[in-house]
Amino acid sequence: MALQTDLSTRRIPPGEPTSGFAWDDRVETWEQVAGSPVFGRLAEAVVEHAAPAGDDRVVDLGAGTGLLTLALAPRVEHVVAVDASRAMLARLNEHARRAELGNVTPLLADLRSLPLADETATLVVSNYAFHHLDDRSKELALSEARRVLAPGGRLVVCDMMFTLSLAARDRAIIASKVRLLARRGPAGLVRIARNAYRILRGRWEQPAPPERWQRMLHDRHFSAVELELLEAEAGIVVARRPEREP
Ligand SMILES: C[S@@+](CC[C@H](N)C(=O)[O-])C[C@H]1O[C@@H](n2cnc3c(N)ncnc32)[C@H](O)[C@@H]1O
Repeated sequence: MALQTDLSTRRIPPGEPTSGFAWDDRVETWEQVAGSPVFGRLAEAVVEHAAPAGDDRVVDLGAGTGLLTLALAPRVEHVVAVDASRAMLARLNEHARRAELGNVTPLLADLRSLPLADETATLVVSNYAFHHLDDRSKELALSEARRVLAPGGRLVVCDMMFTLSLAARDRAIIASKVRLLARRGPAGLVRIARNAYRILRGRWEQPAPPERWQRMLHDRHFSAVELELLEAEAGIVVARRPEREP
């Protein structure tokens, strides 16, 4: 049975930028990132933690061009790939068609207001989408994820998990990003300056640190919350919607 979509629940129009990025213009650049060995390993980590089963009904939040959706679809009943960018979803759809995956539904929607019926998914996944949402939007998206999950359903989110702080891990992550860009020469230096400007204007991506992830999930009454730090700035959280409401 496919996930029930309920278009009447849509409250935030799709496409409204949440991080200043116009994702419709970034399909090609993103395909390069998503095709990199690092992102391949992150997707593998999500799939491993998700332990997909043949009867899973999956929602992929911020699915982009389909890194997780395409990995999961052959192993589950159905995947709804949610994204606010029409162009990203069009590319995802093309990949799904070429791979002859008949169980993928692209859904143009905002993560903060999912047009999906309550308790219809058994697994919600996401990769590198949440840091494009501010803290309040992350909380809304997590509440939506919990609402669409059936009792006992699993949540697996991989994202940047750090913050601009002086803590040792955060400092090391920021220094390695700056070094990587600086090695690219003038173009990299321009990126550093542009990123610094965006941070000052408050238009930077907004990754949450591990402790905030744990708090957001506990506050939304997810159970069995586990967090693992992965390579570079990445982290993965796994949680469940409890069988019974607290
Ligand atoms: C960095 S890409 C990650 C794509 C994919 N998950 C992957 O790992 O390749 C982030 C995606 O999140 C989507 N996104 C950002 N904010 C969103 C929002 N508020 N609602 C829905 N999608 C959003 C963007 O359109 C983009 O496709």
